[in-house]
Amino acid sequence: MIEAGSIAVLGATGAVGSELLRLLHARGVPEERIRPLASSGGTMVAYGEAMIPVEPVEAEAFHEACLAFMAAGAEAARTWVPIALEAGCDVIDTSSAYRMDPGVPLVIPEVNGAVLDRLGASPRLVANPNCSTILLLMALTPLQQVFGCGRIIVSTYQAVSGAGSQAMEALRRQSRAVLDGQPLDSDCFDEPCAFNVFSHDSPVDEVTGRNQEEQKMLQETKRIWGTDVLVSATCVRVPVLRSHTQSIHVELESAASVETLRSAIAEFPGVALVDDRAANDFPTPLKACDGDLVLVGRIRMAADATIDADGRGNRFELLCTMDQLRKGAALNALQVADRLKGG
Ligand SMILES: NC(=O)c1ccc[n+]([C@@H]2O[C@H](COP(=O)([O-])OP(=O)(O)OC[C@H]3O[C@@H](n4cnc5c(N)ncnc54)[C@H](OP(=O)(O)O)[C@@H]3O)[C@@H](O)[C@H]2O)c1
Repeated sequence: MIEAGSIAVLGATGAVGSELLRLLHARGVPEERIRPLASSGGTMVAYGEAMIPVEPVEAEAFHEACLAFMAAGAEAARTWVPIALEAGCDVIDTSSAYRMDPGVPLVIPEVNGAVLDRLGASPRLVANPNCSTILLLMALTPLQQVFGCGRIIVSTYQAVSGAGSQAMEALRRQSRAVLDGQPLDSDCFDEPCAFNVFSHDSPVDEVTGRNQEEQKMLQETKRIWGTDVLVSATCVRVPVLRSHTQSIHVELESAASVETLRSAIAEFPGVALVDDRAANDFPTPLKACDGDLVLVGRIRMAADATIDADGRGNRFELLCTMDQLRKGAALNALQVADRLKGG
């Protein structure tokens, strides 16, 4: 558990920040130890049944804290992470600012949490991976550990909350407008998000044609696994409030059966199998929503698999989903903090 001392949450009014507050409250951290911060004060945030004031972020807040969660975007992280470290805080950053910095560990505790045990004394900085990378690696690390993964092709179905609390409000507002026969706006994304599906809203590289989300999945997977695995991703936004879904095609380095894949996945911490062919019961965003677990199912041999004499194959397909505000951001950050503090 996180020891005594105050805990700063920068971005406390946002989608990830409010989820962090929910999780801290659920763990019994008393209200007096929480410092909710944002760019300006004057608002209140829920902490369990209580409403607590949000303070405008200033260096002084980090001097009184032992731990700081950064959930305010990359630009704010570049400003406030050095200040928090200078003040002696351990810092967990949920943004992209430090993910590819070789001096900063990029951690999913179930996957590469051992790197945290090798860090020195406080203050320490740890980066949370992108939420799509977390989902992919929670689903595939059990296969990587047992069979090895050579090549991955993944298509994402990403919830609008991945773009923050304003995007959630846009989906609610636009959905009501459509049902009321009103014209659709596109004031949050370039495209309307209600009743629509569109290519991920991150910038597209003119040369490779990949958007930033697709590029992050490739780079972060290589960094976390420490291999040269190839990840070809197509990232797409769908009209879902929370929980990202992915359809994955994976080529294994040694042959396997569906049953051995199921066993490896079922034994992995933080993952649950939802894979009932007879009942057509598989992972959905609603089943994952508000939960801690990554759901994996629809595990099947790919049509282009090479099959050996024992009926085992080298290529498989599966579907997975995860509440990306929870395990994709807030829960992952909290698990990192627990491990840093020896909890
Ligand atoms: N949403 C997800 O699913 C998800 C998943 C993984 C990682 N992340 C990362 O988590 C971070 C937060 O994302 P979010 O979805 O929670 O965004 P959000 O809902 O837009 O919330 C952003 C929060 O940061 C505060 N903020 C913005 N600029 C600030 C600044 N310059 N100084 C201080 N506070 C500032 C905002 O409050 P004020 O505007 O009032 O200051 C708000 O509290 C981002 O880096 C994002 O990439 C998000």
